[in-house]
Amino acid sequence: MTRREFIWSVVRTGGSAAAALSALDLRESSSPPSLPDRRGDGGGKHILVLGGGLAGLSAAYELRKLGYSCTILEARTRPGGRCWSVRGGDTTSEIDGPTQTAAFDSGHYLNAGPARIPHHHSLTMDYCEELGVELEMFANDNEAAYYYVEGEGPLADQPVRARKVETDLYGYTSELLAKSVHEDKLDTPLSSRDEERLLAYLRERGALSDDFSYEGTARRGYESNPSPTSDAELADPFTLESIIKSGFGDEYSDAYGFHQQPTMFEPVGGMDRIPQAFAEELNRDLEYGAEIDGIFKQADGGVEVSYVDAHNRPQKVEGDYCVCTIPLSVLSSIENNMSTEMTEAIDAVDFSRTGKIGLQFSRRFWEEDEYIYGGVSRTSMDITQIWYPNYDFFADKGVLIGYYNFGDTAEKVGDLDAVGREELALEQGSKIHPQYREEFENSFSIAWHKTRYQEGGWADYDEETRETYYSRLTEPDGPIYLAGDQISNHPGWMNAAFKSAHYAVRRIHDREAASPPTSSSGE
Ligand code: ALA
Repeated sequence: MTRREFIWSVVRTGGSAAAALSALDLRESSSPPSLPDRRGDGGGKHILVLGGGLAGLSAAYELRKLGYSCTILEARTRPGGRCWSVRGGDTTSEIDGPTQTAAFDSGHYLNAGPARIPHHHSLTMDYCEELGVELEMFANDNEAAYYYVEGEGPLADQPVRARKVETDLYGYTSELLAKSVHEDKLDTPLSSRDEERLLAYLRERGALSDDFSYEGTARRGYESNPSPTSDAELADPFTLESIIKSGFGDEYSDAYGFHQQPTMFEPVGGMDRIPQAFAEELNRDLEYGAEIDGIFKQADGGVEVSYVDAHNRPQKVEGDYCVCTIPLSVLSSIENNMSTEMTEAIDAVDFSRTGKIGLQFSRRFWEEDEYIYGGVSRTSMDITQIWYPNYDFFADKGVLIGYYNFGDTAEKVGDLDAVGREELALEQGSKIHPQYREEFENSFSIAWHKTRYQEGGWADYDEETRETYYSRLTEPDGPIYLAGDQISNHPGWMNAAFKSAHYAVRRIHDREAASPPTSSSGE
């Protein structure tokens, strides 16, 4: 049976094309078990959802569809967790740090956490559709953006358009390979007809001349553009030596990883449109300002959670189950009576260090002067990346992401105060865009590893923690189920949060279905 026949046979027998596609694994690899149909009254069971980030919101949303009642406790005064679009007036307080208040003009924002949606993240795409969240394209790669490498080579320490470096690298590497094929130096099982085909591909891929040399091409842009009275003038390509010696080529090779390939999306108006849409549905079940300080399994099989509410009053709430999406980095300091194996696993997982800064400029010089519309410039400097907004092209002002960095670099930059981070972003960014200083208006920075209720960007498993602890974290501890992108095989993506939430919901529901009607005993 062909794939097409299979899909139609499922649809004809009452299934959905989406389910058939999932079964064929076409929509996304390693899909979790699909959610049960909407049915049941939840058996009168009450579920505590700890954390109003995407995993918590999605878990509560699906549990409610299944008839369960839920209480979502969220420490912040907004939904979404890291899925946060910072607008003028928003504040952040970092652990041991002063509060920053954003001063972005109305209509401008910084997606401080998630900022791009891969097209194959089907749960995220489906939720946007279901919740009416409008999407626009997100340009991850833009040939007009810059590479800037600090170093020794002839092209180092200057912004170079990505299209020039990429085109030249394709050209030279295609030339090298084509010459090896042509001179029969390649040890491949290809027939001579196949070699001809490979050569044709390399000529096309690298814009090679008839003798398979790379001599430059209009793909990398012109020295001077064509006019009605003059032809375009082609620029000479960079030499391979100058590209390699300057450090290009090795820095940016993962730009097309599976999760970052075009087409990518972002919600119109900010990534927080997604949690806001969930929150509108779940409003009556969501309690903000609830700082959880205890999670305890009960002898009767249920769970009790203690917290301090928005008015600073201690509170306790009970549930039959609990879906706990609190980041492990934070959960590890919350009192609980979970098993030793579980607490060991919670303590063992590291969280990434990562930071971003939003810079508001009075003029979109990257568009007006440099024709950069969206996309990312990449550099070996500590700022690591500059992201140009993908919305409101031609607007008067704009907020770009002046750095997005990771690991030791994020820690070093995050250790600076807000003014120091701003100065670093301006100083290094000016090397790529000399207009920075003149057009700069204000900034807002975030170091996720220093941010309250978060203490990290995403779970950073190494081989050992994945092998030793991960499976424990996916299993319930009595009535307590952990969830969030941290309980997944691709942390750091919204889709992983949704998948993990669905996994917990599915397992709670299956457990209920298997229990005698009056029982809520532990597993
Ligand atoms: N998902 C995160 C990103 O897009 C890690 O950078």
